[in-house]
Amino acid sequence: MHGNVGEWIWDYYGDYGTTAVTDPVGAENGTLCVYRGGGWNDFAKNMRSSYRAALSEDKGSFNIGIRLVRNAAMVTGSVISAGAQNVSNSSGKILIAYFSWGGNTKGIAEEIQLQTGADLFEIELVTPYSTDYNTVLDEAQRDQNEQARPELAVHVENMDEYDTVILGYPNWWASIPMPIASFLEEYDFSGKTIIPFCSHGGGRFGQSLTAIAKLAPDSVMGDGLSVHYSGGNSLPDEISKWLSENGITD
Ligand SMILES: Cc1cc2nc3c(=O)[nH]c(=O)nc-3n(C[C@H](O)[C@H](O)[C@H](O)COP(=O)(O)O)c2cc1C
Repeated sequence: MHGNVGEWIWDYYGDYGTTAVTDPVGAENGTLCVYRGGGWNDFAKNMRSSYRAALSEDKGSFNIGIRLVRNAAMVTGSVISAGAQNVSNSSGKILIAYFSWGGNTKGIAEEIQLQTGADLFEIELVTPYSTDYNTVLDEAQRDQNEQARPELAVHVENMDEYDTVILGYPNWWASIPMPIASFLEEYDFSGKTIIPFCSHGGGRFGQSLTAIAKLAPDSVMGDGLSVHYSGGNSLPDEISKWLSENGITD
């Protein structure tokens, strides 16, 4: 961020103490607030986080900005809402829910099922996508542009019973297929853990993790697994390691 805008920070301006401190919070009160790092019109020597300056707390400037942040759970690397009380808890009853067009995601879901014994649920549509590759490319892009919510043909009757949903999908146009959005909006995922996995052709997760976090903001997201197409021979080992890292298996 250095050289873009200086960062307006929470601390009041005050003298530094004489001893070393970690994460100092600034003076207890005051009228001047601190901004750090140089903005676009600062000298090059100020382009560093340790550079600090002060400005009256009710003022602004064209070279000062703020940074938007969210809390992250240290253990899982997952993103949770600021102030949320829930912590990642991958225990309890597990559902594997997936959408697959060509079968790769389905194969991965089935391997996960084999290793966990969890319930398996395929997300299916009232009006399925075309089976023709070039046509589905267009259909998927159209749905993404329109932020469509394709109607789902099957539903999880007992979603309340599940604490963890392992959610699988192919990377479509660098994000989730829109049926995943329909699925996430159908249920209340507050306090549940969502552990995503995706099959892709080189783009790994693309923007899909952000899309999921936005659609289920009160859930906790576990560490995801991205698999190149069907995953090949190393798939069972990859899945085993990933499940264990998420605390699903020992
Ligand atoms: C409509 C469509 C869009 C795709 N977009 C991407 C993409 O943006 N990035 C990528 O890496 N792979 C993309 N792929 C490739 C798929 O993610 C990949 O083939 C995946 O293994 C398909 O999983 P499935 O067999 O479960 O449907 C796309 C495939 C389709 C059909």
